[in-house]
Amino acid sequence: MKNTVDTFRRQKERGDKITMLTCYDYSTAKLMDEAGINSLLVGDSLGMVMLGYPDTLSVTMEDIIHHTKAVSRGAQNALVVGDMPFMSYQVSVDRAVENAGRLIKEGGAQAVKLEGGVTVAEQIRAISRASVPVVAHIGLTPQSINAFGGFKVQGKSIEAARALVEDARAVEEAGAFAVVLEAVPASVAEAITKALLIPTIGIGAGRHCDGQVLVYQDMLDLFGNLKPKFVKVFGDAGGVMRAAFASYIEETKSGAFPSEEHSFIADAGADIGAEILAEPESDR
Ligand code: KIV
Repeated sequence: MKNTVDTFRRQKERGDKITMLTCYDYSTAKLMDEAGINSLLVGDSLGMVMLGYPDTLSVTMEDIIHHTKAVSRGAQNALVVGDMPFMSYQVSVDRAVENAGRLIKEGGAQAVKLEGGVTVAEQIRAISRASVPVVAHIGLTPQSINAFGGFKVQGKSIEAARALVEDARAVEEAGAFAVVLEAVPASVAEAITKALLIPTIGIGAGRHCDGQVLVYQDMLDLFGNLKPKFVKVFGDAGGVMRAAFASYIEETKSGAFPSEEHSFIADAGADIGAEILAEPESDR
């Protein structure tokens, strides 16, 4: 059954944890969907893990739409969330609504995500009023790394924790149906989770959130550039891929691949090539 905004709400009520992974392509979306994931986030992390940028700031609307289309085609049941890139919603409320609409109309997403709390509450309110469900994202918001001075845990001091609670309340009040809490102390995430009616989805925010999200390259050890403390490797796909690439190179060079099993035979039989070469060139 298709996961919806309502599924998220009921899961929080029942204490059934919401599962979300980032996803950027059709084949992986199908695999995750078949595994029973609740939601696929086409995150702007694609700038780093798919496109090789040092951060998420260069990602464009076109990048996100392109990948959201592919994920939407592979996701039968999972709720697809398209991430709003840097400067696609900060400039004005109108631009925010317009760009959120593009992720739904062109990308095929069922919801959008944007970073920020109190400062983007008006954008969340306007997008929600336009019938586009919004996931908010507070704590370590990677689009603000220049303002934060790097990828740093947020909400560690009592003042910072209070500000986070204020952000969480603001996004809920503005109409967000869920909120991602990134890199915040577990006790602060627990307090926010208890204070809100909407579900919290944690990444580096401890076990008390209503759900969890991870970047799939991180949980499969496919991306070596950055290893945050909160990442658990659930499968060594990186190791499996490295070994497979090495075998392919070795077998191709040795001639072991392709064998007969992976070759075609002409109707006229296996010797047809030799027969053609034996013919005088004028007959070919
Ligand atoms: O872009 C992304 O992948 C994200 C997740 C880390 C929540 O925002």
